This record gives sequence, C-alpha cells and structure tokens, in this order.
Amino acid sequence: MKWWQNTIVYELYPNSFKDSDGDGYGDLKGITSELDHLKSLGVGAIWLTPVYVSPMGDNGYDVADYYSINPRYGTMEDMDELIEEAKKREIRIVMDLVFNHTSNECEWFKESASSRDNDKNDWYIWADPKEDGSVPNNWRGVFGGSVWTYCETRGQYYLHTFGDFQPDVNWENPKVRNALYDIANFWIDKGVGGFRLDAITYIKKPADMSDGPVDAPDNMVSVHSMTANTDGILDFLHEFKDQVQVGKDIFVVGEANGVPASELPLWVGENGVFDMIFEFSHVNVQFSGGEVWYNTKDWKLTELKKCFSDSQKATKDNGWYPVFLENHDQPRSINHFLPADADPVQGAKVLGMLMMTLRGTPFMYEGQEIGMTNIDWDNIKDYDDISSHNQFQMAKLNGLTTKQAMECVKRFSRDNSRTPMQWTDGENAGFTDGTPWLPVNSNYKTVNVASENENSGSVLCFYHQMKTLRDEHEVLKDGNYTELFQNSEKIYAYCRENAKEKIIILLNFTGEAVEVKMDDLGIESQTGFRILLSNCGGERASEVSKQTEKVNLYPYEAMCLQVD
Ligand code: GLC
Repeated sequence: MKWWQNTIVYELYPNSFKDSDGDGYGDLKGITSELDHLKSLGVGAIWLTPVYVSPMGDNGYDVADYYSINPRYGTMEDMDELIEEAKKREIRIVMDLVFNHTSNECEWFKESASSRDNDKNDWYIWADPKEDGSVPNNWRGVFGGSVWTYCETRGQYYLHTFGDFQPDVNWENPKVRNALYDIANFWIDKGVGGFRLDAITYIKKPADMSDGPVDAPDNMVSVHSMTANTDGILDFLHEFKDQVQVGKDIFVVGEANGVPASELPLWVGENGVFDMIFEFSHVNVQFSGGEVWYNTKDWKLTELKKCFSDSQKATKDNGWYPVFLENHDQPRSINHFLPADADPVQGAKVLGMLMMTLRGTPFMYEGQEIGMTNIDWDNIKDYDDISSHNQFQMAKLNGLTTKQAMECVKRFSRDNSRTPMQWTDGENAGFTDGTPWLPVNSNYKTVNVASENENSGSVLCFYHQMKTLRDEHEVLKDGNYTELFQNSEKIYAYCRENAKEKIIILLNFTGEAVEVKMDDLGIESQTGFRILLSNCGGERASEVSKQTEKVNLYPYEAMCLQVD
C-alpha cells in the first residue's frame, strides 16, 4: 500500500478551524497549533481548501494569485511552518487546485479582458453575442443565472461555470495548461503531499456550444449536463499527470462530479489519470433530478448501500476509493443520512464506523470527529454561502413558498458544514477571541473537543478507538469488501476479508433494536464471534461472544465483529 492508502485524510476548512489572531477567521497559525488533535485521530494528510490570495466571493474558490497566501490566513512563512510542523508529526499538507477557473481579479483575467488583442487574449473562453446581442447560449451556471457575462472592453461574453466572478480558463491553450502545471510544481517543491483538483470534470468544453434542451422554467439548461466529462478531457489530464505527478511521492484526488462508476477505470488506477476521484452518488441519494435542493425524494437505505457497493466494486481491482460522508459543500452527515429523531451521538458513531471501515482512504471532514450537526437558521439573510442564496431563488422561481424554500436551504446549505470548529464549551467555542465570521452552532456546550476528550462515551473517543482498530487490523484498510444482508432497510452489513482475517461490520440505521441472524448473513462459525468494537459499551464484548446464531443490535448500534 502507498502511504496515502494507509492513512486518514482530514479535510480542513481554514476559515473555520482555528483563529490565532482574533480577527474572527481561522488561519494557518491556528491550524499549526492544533496538529496534535489531528495526529490523535490518525490523520496522515490534511487537505486545505484554498488558502491563496482571493477576493473570497466563494470562500477561496476564486483564486487571484496561486503563488501567495491569503493575508487573512497568514504569510508564506506561516505556510512553511505548517508544512514543517506537520511533517514532524508525519502529516502531509494537500493543496486544493482550482484549475477550472480563476477569480476575475486574477492578473491573467484582467489582461485577457483588457482588449481582444493581448498576450492572454485567449486564456479564457470568450464568445460573441448572438445577433440580437444576447448571451451566446442558454446554459445555466452552477450558482444560477447564465454562464455568460458581458465584458464592455471586448464587446464579448466570457464563460463561467460557477459565479460571474469565476471565469473559466481555456484549457485548449497549451500556454494556459503550462501555467497551471507550473503552479502545481511550485507547491510540490514546497513539500506538499498531494492535490485535490477542484471541479475538474468541467475543464473541457464541447466543440458545439449551442443551446441545450431547456430543463426549468427559467428557459435554461444546466451547464453540468452540457459540459461535465466532455470527450477529450482525459487527454488534458494525462498531460497533467505526466507534467506534475509522475515520479513524485504525492497523491491526486479529483472532484469528479459527472463521472459514472462504469468509467472509473479510465480515471483512476494505473491507466487512469488520478489516484482517486470523489464520486457523489451517495450524497445525492435524496435528489430526484440534478442537484436541485427543492427536488428531493424519499430514499431507502438499500439505495444508499448500493451507491457504496457500486463504488467499492468499481475500485476493487483498479484504483482506490476516497470514502467521505461530509465535505464543505454538503450538510452534516448526521442530518444528511439519518432521521431527524436519531440519537446524534450514536448516529454519528454509526456513520463514523461506516467511513472508517469501507475499503479506501477515509476523508474525514472538520468537525465530523465530534459529531457536529447542521445549523437551524430561519432567515436567508443570515446565510453566507452563495449557493444557498441561488438555490433559495430557484426554489421560489419554481413555485415554492418562502417557508418551503427556507426548509430546502436549512437542509442543504453549505453553511451547515462551515460554522466554526467547536473546541471548548467557552466563549465562541474556543474558536476565536474575536467575533466569528459565521456564528458558532448553538450546541457547542456539549459538542466540543475538550469535553469529548474527557468523556469516554463521546463521538471523539469513538473515533480514537476506530483509529486504533484500523491500525491493529490491516484488513480494514485493504481487505476485500462484500455486502451482506443486502435487502435490509434497517441494517448495513458487510464483510472485510483478507488471507489472515475476516471482520463483519453491522450498522443499525434505525432507532429500533434489530435481530441479525448469522444465517441470514451467510456466515458459518462454530466458535462464535468476537466483538472488536461497539458503540454500545465494553460490556457488549462478553454478551455477543456467547452468541453463535444471532446478534441483537441496539438502536443505532455500530459493531465490528471478528469471525473466528
Ligand atoms: C467545488 C468546490 C466548491 C466550489 C466550486 C467552485 O465544487 O468544492 O466549494 O464552490 O467547486 O470552485
């Protein structure tokens, strides 16, 4: 196994992790001060969402200068110190490369927009208006509205898959590609351990940029359906691999929305372009069309399980799977995957065990380790996230009342996962001495690192136990995965097996006790089962070891059993 297959990656949202200077925003020195917390979780790599100079229209995903640190977060010296201090703890820093677009305040764009005739004239995607002066086509951006914005100086429109302040760069131009590879290599020289490639499935645009079939009352079509994973994209990415990665001891994970499991072999593994890609079927399980927040459906556990099993199968012999349940674009997993009345502590442990025992590298998201939950803000004005505002408008445009539209925002807003990290039960949860940029979740008195470290029944202590379990049982890292009890709408069960051992994971996704018959699991064991870990306390070990035919799971019980 490579080092990044053998570890845990922690996704860290710098704005919200730890503020060292009292300005209300997290910063690099804050991160450095909390490295021991991450070390205790078994983290071997920290993926930082963008920390470059940026006007922060999309919290850093609008980069103005890829070679400098955003003063909000500190200086390049602070960055070097973070890389160095992390290295001492065998933790590597992973940078987020935003290479589909830049900020409109990036020097490249300023030059490109300044005239039709300049050195960077074709570094972005420019198009003439239609004859009537209107936008070149009917594509809708990910954050709503047209993907085209007019530029007076050029008398042309530029394309932006996301916000109008995030112009897409022109990957067809080899100079642009080389400039991007230079950036990546600069960071490799600094000693980083890898990259996450943002929104990478959008970099290739189709040759035909005409109107697409309208998919909503705004008479537009989503840019995702028109451009994601366009033929020819892999040529660019093979070049990226050759120019940036080959021969270096780093990993690359792509944010690859729009790549079906069937195409995974082209994207990951030996002949692929990346080491891993994030695949989104499981986090989109409740959407019935596109990722439109007002368009949801009731989903069943069997559907969720199938998403994981499909990805596990697709990466069985080829490539590697980054296991994630949360990130900075998703709601908190407890609210996402469990019913509203679920016990948040036991529920968080069920989801934690799922993430820590599927085959692949767990990507833990800031705050997940203490069981942070969604916020519950009623007024759209309180939300910072650009996407929440757009989805709110879209919902209203599609006939929802303000109250209904707010329900969608509360359920899916990206701010749910962006509130400050909860360190203590003190003021501002110990995140800052100043005023936090986003309010602290009101549950910080009980959900916080310091209190949970003192409480052996906490989510955090369970994560520590799971770290030890993974270290002691290699099978949990690379053993084969077989789903068991496939039709159950209550239990997610699977087996991890290698030549040396066999471990069964039983996860009760309901608030009821559930009897699991070993026969139904297709497991034969004369000697019984040894319990390695349960979220229902140490005494479960002796209770369960006496049973050979069935195990009675408590509500939201998560259990690892060794088959003797
Ligand atoms: C990715 C990021 C998201 C950002 C978008 C545009 O999806 O994860 O946070 O808004 O790309 O860069």
